[in-house]
Amino acid sequence: MKKVEITFSITEYEGLDELSTGDALLVEKARTAAADAYAPYSKFNVGAAILLDNGEIITGNNQENAAYPSGLCAERVALFYANAKFPESAVNAVAITASTGGALVENPVKPCGSCRQVLSETTHRFGKPIRLILDGSEKIQVVEDSDFLLPLSFNNDDLQD
Ligand code: THU
Repeated sequence: MKKVEITFSITEYEGLDELSTGDALLVEKARTAAADAYAPYSKFNVGAAILLDNGEIITGNNQENAAYPSGLCAERVALFYANAKFPESAVNAVAITASTGGALVENPVKPCGSCRQVLSETTHRFGKPIRLILDGSEKIQVVEDSDFLLPLSFNNDDLQD
């Protein structure tokens, strides 16, 4: 018998000013995208901005529906569009932000479980970790590999003999 410990670290920044120019730009693009979210039911506007390894930035926002489960999170809107438009390009980083009542959330917003699974698929598809930049007014958190947020994930390796 042995115990396996899984640990990871998060880097926290006080605000946009502390980020690199590239990361700050990605967060700003996510904030702009959040303003265009279609979230009449939750009134929780989420924005995501994706940096691809070809240098393109793709943005998305949450798209809700009166039939609630038919809506989709900002991260998956952006990821599916990025993979549809640039199927050969790995994803380097994703900035995620959210606002409610017109104000940026205090606590950095985290991707939901389904979005973590899709992030994991994209990671394994291209064999490249995805950096997450999680935006909030109190702090901005950076996770170097989105798979850290989904340990013991089910992925393509599990489908092979
Ligand atoms: N939402 C996202 O777009 N991304 C997340 O990571 C968390 C939740 C959306 C789904 C729904 O439209 C609203 O936020 C409230 O849950």
